[in-house]
Amino acid sequence: TTKMQIAIDGPASAGKSTVAKLVAKEMNYIYCDTGAMYRVATWYALKNNVALDDNQALEEMLKDVQLEFVPAEPVQKVFVNGEEVTDAIRMPDVTNNVSLVAAQPSVRKAMTQRQREIADAGGIVMDGRDIGSVVLPNAQVKVFMEATVHERALRRYRENQAKGIETPLAVLEEEIAARDYKDSTRKEAPLICAEDAIKLDTTSLNIEQVVAEIKKIIKKNA
Ligand code: C5P
Repeated sequence: TTKMQIAIDGPASAGKSTVAKLVAKEMNYIYCDTGAMYRVATWYALKNNVALDDNQALEEMLKDVQLEFVPAEPVQKVFVNGEEVTDAIRMPDVTNNVSLVAAQPSVRKAMTQRQREIADAGGIVMDGRDIGSVVLPNAQVKVFMEATVHERALRRYRENQAKGIETPLAVLEEEIAARDYKDSTRKEAPLICAEDAIKLDTTSLNIEQVVAEIKKIIKKNA
């Protein structure tokens, strides 16, 4: 069988990356976390005092950003110009500003180009917001993962606890809803379920169950 492109999109904290990574591993495909790329741009802009809504300045800035993903357990490592930022890009200041940076056309253009290059290498599982709709419109498999805001906030809350981040559940719910709103209403490549994507409500499913569902979808489409 030829190698496929598998696009997994959905709102914040829907469990996309956990599941995408497992599917990629099982299929021996490359896994690409596109959210991490937008997070890196945001982290770097914050660090270098680049205005987060300055399309042109961000475009210039990205020319200096060397991004590297290194496979590792339990999460892949992320490096920017040789500096490890794996944890830094998950911190609340990045999370709460990333939607603004990701809405800038120059940033989307640069990242989309990188993502397509990565996908050209062969079998790929890519997760994000606009993978099935914009980045890989010809993907053989498109899944749109959903879950209630409450369930997603709960998942993030438990993740945070393990990392020692103390944000109240109600605040997480607000932050997640705000990020989804910004990502869904931006002009360029908004968060959307592609017409030919299969919706998967994961509210009452655990990780293994979601992976099993996605494998069924892959079998049907292969
Ligand atoms: O997936 P994650 O939550 O890490 O994504 C962080 C942010 O990056 C999203 O809230 C969104 O603003 C942006 N993003 C995007 N397009 C993608 C992936 C992420 O705009 N394909």
